Amino acid sequence: MKLRMLLTSTAFAALFSFGLVLGGDASAEDPKPCVAATLPKVKAACEKGGQAEVKKLMKAVVDKAKAAGKEMKCLSCHKDLKAFEQTPNAMDDLKPLL
Ligand code: HEC
Repeated sequence: MKLRMLLTSTAFAALFSFGLVLGGDASAEDPKPCVAATLPKVKAACEKGGQAEVKKLMKAVVDKAKAAGKEMKCLSCHKDLKAFEQTPNAMDDLKPLL
């Protein structure tokens, strides 16, 4: 019985980190899993704390850009702040700032 529970939670964790568990009955405190992370740093943030953690990373990116004299907002790279769909420049702009 114990083993089965362990297996179940391991399987769940694996699914979760692949972003296959969307919605469900996650409580408000659970981080929202990422939907399309590909870069190692972004993926690491996703694994640590889902989209909430990525947002922190992205804020640091915006600050870094500002420090370098480039005015940048979330919407410079995302079409919206719900699905975080990327603009065509997003990937190229993000890489040097990570
Ligand atoms: C310089 C461009 C750029 C800026 C500015 C930027 N993002 Fe991103 N963001 C990206 C790219 C590119 C990805 C996808 C990264 C990947 O594929 O690993 C991403 C991914 C994300 C994700 C993960 C989406 C998912 O579920 O896969 C979140 C959440 C996010 N950004 C939020 C923000 C927020 C909030 C801000 C403002 C504080 C912001 N971003 C500013 C380029 C940017």
